[in-house]
Amino acid sequence: MAPIVTKAPENQPSSPACLAHEAADTYMGFASREEIAAFLNELLEAERAGTGVALRSAQAAQGTPFADLLHDVHLDEARWCAMLLKHLKALGAPASVRVGPFQEKALAIADLRERIAFLNRGQGWVARKLREMLPKVRDDGLHTDLRAMLQAHEVNIARAQATLDGPSDSSP
Ligand SMILES: [Fe+2]
Repeated sequence: MAPIVTKAPENQPSSPACLAHEAADTYMGFASREEIAAFLNELLEAERAGTGVALRSAQAAQGTPFADLLHDVHLDEARWCAMLLKHLKALGAPASVRVGPFQEKALAIADLRERIAFLNRGQGWVARKLREMLPKVRDDGLHTDLRAMLQAHEVNIARAQATLDGPSDSSP
């Protein structure tokens, strides 16, 4: 493939180095800063919703096989919120303060097992979004953190599914 030569029009000032760098990144298939920020905010809203669902469901799950699972999911979701906020700050991008609509939808489901199945589908959505975005993330630190988030989600999804597949009443 022929080398690509980019040249700024002579009657315009040169792009700042960071913008030129970003244009090259986008050309190479990496997400732009704006795409990354929008993605991190979308995940932040989803994780905030997940945190709320897990916390409020854990109280209802006392004495059931779901109690430990929801406790751990709550801690994980809160950890990812902090991670996403850290990267938004590093990008200099404003962080969303919204809670995703997922929380309200999930909490409207009265049956605990059905709610956890719904929560797990939400976790699956997050994992899918992460798998799609990871190849487009150039920054090593962000890539490492998003990969850890994906792996933790995969572990929790499998754990929740195993608990859902278990006996419906294994309380002592
Ligand atoms: Fe999550």
